[in-house]
Amino acid sequence: MRIGVFDSGLGGITLLNQAIRQMPEEYYLFYADTDHVPYGEKTREQIMRYVSDSARFMVDQGCKALVIGCNTATSVGISHLRKEWPDIPIIGIEPAVKPAMTRYRKGGRILVCATAITINGEKLERLIERLKGTEVVDKIALPGLVRLAESGQFEKEPVESYLRAAFAGLDLKSYDCIVLGCTHFNFFKDSFQDLFKGVPVIDGSRAAILQLRRKLGEAGLFITPEEKKAYKDAPQVVWYESGRAVTDASELARIEKLRNRWLQLN
Ligand code: DGL
Repeated sequence: MRIGVFDSGLGGITLLNQAIRQMPEEYYLFYADTDHVPYGEKTREQIMRYVSDSARFMVDQGCKALVIGCNTATSVGISHLRKEWPDIPIIGIEPAVKPAMTRYRKGGRILVCATAITINGEKLERLIERLKGTEVVDKIALPGLVRLAESGQFEKEPVESYLRAAFAGLDLKSYDCIVLGCTHFNFFKDSFQDLFKGVPVIDGSRAAILQLRRKLGEAGLFITPEEKKAYKDAPQVVWYESGRAVTDASELARIEKLRNRWLQLN
């Protein structure tokens, strides 16, 4: 059985690549809800419906575990999904506020970048409140980066002009850690590093996949020798966009470009 990895668009590729890096023997189904990206500009009710429909599709395809590779979808929908499918391991991704705060507990300043839905969501608020020591946590929504990633624009221009304008009111030198709380933003790590010179820029994808491994182990769901034989000639990843199998060469090339982009940066 495959592991389902989901995102509103192609940001979840960062989780898929991380999963393949940590578990190269497994097989995967990647589902991008491209009909509805960007989620960050939709209502919570719409997102709930999209996430639920997408998860149902992956479960119907026989996925043994689901990775919600989207901070926005996790923020809105993960508890609902876990109630709906209590027997399937469902791993989400959250802004890596915990490692940022653990590292900078003594009064550092942290900047969390995400979609507006994640930034304004109760889940992030509660996480920050629970962990809060003396550090200052600033939050900023960067919707333009989702669009740039979906259109495959990674060049320093227009990316850095967009970021400079978005950060205009902030003192960039005052930060001790930058948290990328949207999986699409991981494709721009180099630009964040350029702008925040030397400051750690972190995301939660490695931790999320470690958690997935732990859950698969606990549930005895790692790929078996019989499955390995059965999958011998199958592709390691099958690709779906809003319920349709991706077969178009130009779309597969767009996906490949993003996969390679992540590999270059990580
Ligand atoms: N990649 C998604 C996230 O991690 C959301 C992007 C969007 O659809 O707005 O939040």
